[in-house]
Amino acid sequence: ARLGVLVSGSGSNLQALLDACAQADFPAEVACVVSNVPTAFGLERARKAGVSAVALDHKAFGSRADFERALGETLRASGVEWVCLAGFMRLLSADFLAGFPGRVLNIHPALLPAFPGLHAQRQALERGVKITGCTVHFVDAGTDTGPIIAQAAVPVLPDDTEASLSARILAEEHRLYPLAVRLAVTGKVTLEGTRTRVDAQAA
Ligand code: GRF
Repeated sequence: ARLGVLVSGSGSNLQALLDACAQADFPAEVACVVSNVPTAFGLERARKAGVSAVALDHKAFGSRADFERALGETLRASGVEWVCLAGFMRLLSADFLAGFPGRVLNIHPALLPAFPGLHAQRQALERGVKITGCTVHFVDAGTDTGPIIAQAAVPVLPDDTEASLSARILAEEHRLYPLAVRLAVTGKVTLEGTRTRVDAQAA
């Protein structure tokens, strides 16, 4: 399966996907990386891995529709079948998503549906939960609302800061995202309307 990975920043989750795809038995490859932030380190990671790296600055487009049209064309030009959001800080419209039905994934640093949106780790600390984690889910037009593919939990420790908690969650993200991509591209977990369906028999 050919993946397009969308980033806006550091791209450590992109790196986890690049590393997984370098394994002979992994059922996917990164065909293209796109960033809406031209200076994102994720683009550098892509180049280092020999993967096509494209900057599409959303501010250079007249409208969201124009930006998304260019994004779709860029992905299709690389033969992308699956889109993985990895720290990509733009919402995607239902129109764009319809071009990759059931094939857009995101990772979020909380146990959804708790703490969607920005600063999920800070939200968890402020709420005082004792367990949080990360979620990979299919993307719909809402903010972190799509059906859940996989989750991993981490403890919140008494002395945690936003930085220490984020680092603990991030380590789990790097394990979980490749695992969830494998489940999705092999058809073990599929999107069915507003739910996910698990098929243990799938190839
Ligand atoms: C991760 O915590 C991810 O869950 C969130 O943004 C962060 C991106 O980190 N959506 P990176 O760019 O993959 O290092």
